[in-house]
Amino acid sequence: MAKYKVYEYGGRKAFPAEGLSIGTRLPFDVFVNEGNVFRKLYDAGQLIGPEERASLRRTGATDVYVDARDAPGLDLYLQRTSSEKPADPGDPEVCREYFEHKRRYYQVDRMFLFPGSRVEFGIYLLGDLRLTPLVEAMEGEPGIIPEGVSAAAGDVVIRNEDIPLYQRYLDALLDGGAEAVPAPAEREKIRAVAIKEKSKAIIKDLIEDPRSGENIKKAIGLATQLTDCIMSSREIIHDLISLNSYDLYTYTHSVNVAVLSVAIGITHGMGRDDAGSLGVGALLHDIGKSGIPTEILNKPGKLSVPEYEIVKGHVLEGAKILRTHEAIPRSASEVVLQHHERISGRGYPYGLSGSAVTLFGRIAAIADCYDAMTTRRPYQGAYTPYEALFQITKEVENYDRDVLETFIRMLGKVGVPEKRHAERIPQPLG
Ligand SMILES: [Fe+2]
Repeated sequence: MAKYKVYEYGGRKAFPAEGLSIGTRLPFDVFVNEGNVFRKLYDAGQLIGPEERASLRRTGATDVYVDARDAPGLDLYLQRTSSEKPADPGDPEVCREYFEHKRRYYQVDRMFLFPGSRVEFGIYLLGDLRLTPLVEAMEGEPGIIPEGVSAAAGDVVIRNEDIPLYQRYLDALLDGGAEAVPAPAEREKIRAVAIKEKSKAIIKDLIEDPRSGENIKKAIGLATQLTDCIMSSREIIHDLISLNSYDLYTYTHSVNVAVLSVAIGITHGMGRDDAGSLGVGALLHDIGKSGIPTEILNKPGKLSVPEYEIVKGHVLEGAKILRTHEAIPRSASEVVLQHHERISGRGYPYGLSGSAVTLFGRIAAIADCYDAMTTRRPYQGAYTPYEALFQITKEVENYDRDVLETFIRMLGKVGVPEKRHAERIPQPLG
């Protein structure tokens, strides 16, 4: 049952303007009533995004109109947008729109979205294959973060164009200049997660342009800062790994793998320099995915054999990219080259076995699998941390037993973060 009331006016169908939901594509032309003159606001086919909602707000219109002949399309549109049911992942149009949202929006850590804070960027929820607004705001038109944002089910995202505004918001929080600044005891935790957030933005840029030497330098600096944070306080690991993602974003995954790898390395007795190099390699471990078409990376379900071969190519491609940057420590390349190798010899690209897989490669293999398994996908669910560890230990011949023991001990000490139960069994990722 549609929740928006439709009525007739001036030979057209009218309905409340908020019925035009963010993230939907219009199947009809939409008009506003300006003194009984109907002006076309959007053409059929228009995707409703933050700009469209803002331009609608500026007209001051409370209701919008469609041609009477579009009444059946309007009914279907309002039913779909106001439905409580999750969108159908089997519908190719739903998937296409979802992946477009994933490309145009950037996942942020909800830890920083303090209720009552003023923001100059819109905040949205990408969950159940739909995009819904949490805060509508733009530069010069601020919004206030409401209560409950941190509990919303889905990934909290902002527009790619707003990443600099988000960075500015983070900087203001770190400087203590923003409203709703948390208690000083929280500062260290906030600082560590802010470094993680900055790393994510750099990795996102690097995946789009892996040639940027400046971003490589920034990534190296951030890996060192992350390492120092983890060395100074082991409890911070829990805060750094507790984000529940509802989908896999290569940049978020890369930073999670870096945090896990550095934490395992340090717990395993590694010194600061080695842990830092391991962190650099882990941050960049999937950089070779920059050349893989998003349709393959995002494909729901099983990849075909040729598609899987393309995905596997990210390892050698990544190693090639790393060779072009002299600033990257040589040992960091081991992470990129070996994170899919298995000591049983069943990995790729070279099928290395036993001692041919280095300690960096062994640590990254566990961190990569664990994060991929515990990340929910919109079409398949995730393992809980316990289930992921169980799956990894079931294939113990693939992994280094000592490193695995260190990892389990570390998770036990810092407390395994709560994640949702699996709804369906995930498939291995590339
Ligand atoms: Fe990978």
